[in-house]
Amino acid sequence: MKNYAGRILAGAAIASLALVAGPQIMAHGDVTPQAVDTSDLPDIGEAWLEENPYSGNTRAIEIGSSAYNQNCARCHGLEAISGGIAPDLRYLELGASGDQWYMERYRNGSSHDGKVYMPPFGDVLGQKAGWAIRAFLETKYTEE
Ligand code: HEC
Repeated sequence: MKNYAGRILAGAAIASLALVAGPQIMAHGDVTPQAVDTSDLPDIGEAWLEENPYSGNTRAIEIGSSAYNQNCARCHGLEAISGGIAPDLRYLELGASGDQWYMERYRNGSSHDGKVYMPPFGDVLGQKAGWAIRAFLETKYTEE
């Protein structure tokens, strides 16, 4: 846990350094991951699923919207509209292949050349929160 928090802090610090273009995003920055209450959502077990079990689920979309704003918006932009420092998540493909790519990043984050571009969230927020956020993002889908 301590480790993950450290990596998230490192990720946030690096993102802030890169953040010349997004002062309004920085102002919303919560650096510590915010726990997400997913007790209202149907249980989906421990094993990581390949497709979103909450797609179109109204309650999941509400929970996902709040979880997104608290954990992802500082880099990916409010309402999933990117300010340019991280990819615009409205363009993520819908359906199974989009789900897989989404979960790859959610679980593992992204690091290259020894720098954390995005911290991993899988073990911090869990699978249910991850799919709830994906359900919210699906409602923002926009063709590129
Ligand atoms: C510290 C900033 C930061 C935070 C916080 C963050 N991300 Fe990211 N995210 C990034 C960056 C930067 C990339 C691009 C990484 C790359 O291309 O190597 C990325 C990439 C992604 C991608 C892949 C997008 C694509 O088009 O390839 C997804 C999906 C994603 N993030 C989802 C999330 C979700 C969901 C959250 C919140 C739980 C989140 N991110 C929080 C910075 C962040």
